[in-house]
Amino acid sequence: MDNKPIIALDFSTEKEVQDFLGLFSSQKLNVKVGMELFYQQGPSIIYSLKEAGHDVFLDIKLHDIPTTVKKAMTGIARLGVDMINMHAAGGRRMMEAAREGLDIGTPADKQSPLLIAVTQLTSTTPDMLIKEQHCALSMEESVLHYAELAYVAQGDGVVCSTHEANAIKNKLGETFLRVTPGIRLDNDRSHDQHRVATPERARDLGSSHIVVGRSITQSLHPVDSYIDVLRQWEGEK
Ligand code: C5P
Repeated sequence: MDNKPIIALDFSTEKEVQDFLGLFSSQKLNVKVGMELFYQQGPSIIYSLKEAGHDVFLDIKLHDIPTTVKKAMTGIARLGVDMINMHAAGGRRMMEAAREGLDIGTPADKQSPLLIAVTQLTSTTPDMLIKEQHCALSMEESVLHYAELAYVAQGDGVVCSTHEANAIKNKLGETFLRVTPGIRLDNDRSHDQHRVATPERARDLGSSHIVVGRSITQSLHPVDSYIDVLRQWEGEK
């Protein structure tokens, strides 16, 4: 998967997806399929997106015992997705098992999907970290700790907020990916995201990939909004 913005296809039916993608003619896009879409449409939605030439990030955040995750990842690699994620909280062994599963399921002539770890969910607040997780670290320390764990477990990168991207890049290097949601064309329209950044700001803050949902999918002119995101991300004014 290249570093073009990843459009979050937060829809529940294939028709909504097709209507939306139809606006883009035959342009090849990076798209994200989350739990809402995948649990209702299943593998067929992945096949049809791949058939149309798109690169697919399957965002279903696996978190289970290592054996189960390994077997699940074997099947996911066979679907042909380009990026997949799991919770770093599942531990080093679980993440290594995820990699083993992907290697088993990837056809010999294909590249293994990029394996990305979720650090702390962006919905987790510092208060929840203390009271619910009994974690003595600050949010940034905890995110960095999980990023390092994912790195030693041979993950390809993490999902994180733009605010942690630079620290992760400095610690683990440019090639360890920082996939960041919470992107807005206009900083004021945050919806339910607590900390948002424009595509340009995300680039300056060290994101390697950005995930953009509502700023494109709920725009009156989705294609124009995508082009705006792309231009800002690529540094054109
Ligand atoms: O509409 P919006 O741009 O906020 O969508 C962001 C997308 O990224 C959604 O699909 C959301 O589930 C996902 N996501 C997120 N925060 C994370 C992980 C994934 O917002 N930590």
